[in-house]
Amino acid sequence: MLRLGLIGSPIKHSLSPWIHRHLLQRANIPGSYELFEIHSGRQLSRAMKQLKEQLHGFNVTVPYKETIIPHLDMLDDTARYCGAVNTVVKIKNQWIGYNTDGIGYIRSLQASYPQFFSRKKNKVLIIGAGGAARGIYFSLIDEGFINIDIANRTVKNAKEMVRDSTIPTKVYDLKGIHDMIHSYDLIIQTTSVGMHPLENETVISLSNIKPDTIVSDIVYQPVYTKFLKEARSLKANIHFGHMMLLYQAIYAFEIWTGKHVQSDDLAQRLKNKLERN
Ligand code: ATR
Repeated sequence: MLRLGLIGSPIKHSLSPWIHRHLLQRANIPGSYELFEIHSGRQLSRAMKQLKEQLHGFNVTVPYKETIIPHLDMLDDTARYCGAVNTVVKIKNQWIGYNTDGIGYIRSLQASYPQFFSRKKNKVLIIGAGGAARGIYFSLIDEGFINIDIANRTVKNAKEMVRDSTIPTKVYDLKGIHDMIHSYDLIIQTTSVGMHPLENETVISLSNIKPDTIVSDIVYQPVYTKFLKEARSLKANIHFGHMMLLYQAIYAFEIWTGKHVQSDDLAQRLKNKLERN
C-alpha cells in the first residue's frame, strides 16, 4: 500500500488528490493520497516525524515549499536552484526534495506543441521571477533553449534570478517589454495576475505579438484567463495552466513509483472539472 499526500495550507480545494488517485488507479498501484493541512511552521516541525513514519512520499505546497528544506536530507538540482521543494520522496531512508514544476512545464508544452522543441533558437519571454518562473527558466535552459528573457514588476528580483545563469538573459520591467513583445515565439505568464481576485487583470498587453506566438499562462483557475482570452482574440496559440498542473503531478508520481502513466485524456477531464468549479 503506497501512502502519499499533500502538506500545505489552505489545501481543502487542491486538485492533487483527484489527479493522484487517477494515476494510482491507472498504474494499478494500491495506495492513497491524503491531505495534511498544517497551520504553522511549528506544526510542520512536529508533523514531519509523523509524516516520515506514515508516508512513502508527499507533495508540498504554499506556504512550506521553502521551510520544508531543513527537514530533508538532500535536494535535486532544480529544487536547489529554485530554493523550493514541491515533491518529497523517501529513498533508502533518506528524504529527498524535488521541484517538478519546471520539468512538468516542459513536458506539458511538449505534449501540446512538440514542434516548438525542434528550434532551440526560438525566443522565449518569461513574465515573473518567483519560484515557478525559476523552475521553468532552469528547465528551458536544460532543454537547450538559448534565447530566454525575463520581464518582471521588480527588475531587481529578475536580475537576481538570472545572476548565475549559463545563458545571457535580458531583463525588462513590465512597461519596457511592450515594444519588444513582437519578437517572442513563446510568452509564459507565471505571476498570480489573472487568478482570483485578480481575474479581471492582465500583467501586460499582448497587442504587439506575432500571430503564431505561443502564449502560455500557468494560472489555471479560471481556465481561460483574461491573458489567454486576449491571446486567442489575436489568433495566437494557447497553452493552458492546467497542463502544467497535470504534468508536474505526473512527474511527481514517476518519482514516487518509477511508473509513467498514460494520461492524454486526463488533461481534458481536468479542464472539464475546472470549468465546472
Ligand atoms: P510563485 O512561487 O508561485 O511563482 P511568487 O514567488 O510569489 O510565486 O512570485 C510571484 C511573481 O509574481 C513575482 O515575479 C512577482 O513580481 P515581483 O518580483 O515584483 O514581486 C509577480 N507578481 C505578483 N503579483 C503581481 C502583480 N500584481 N503585478 C505584477 N507582478 C506580480
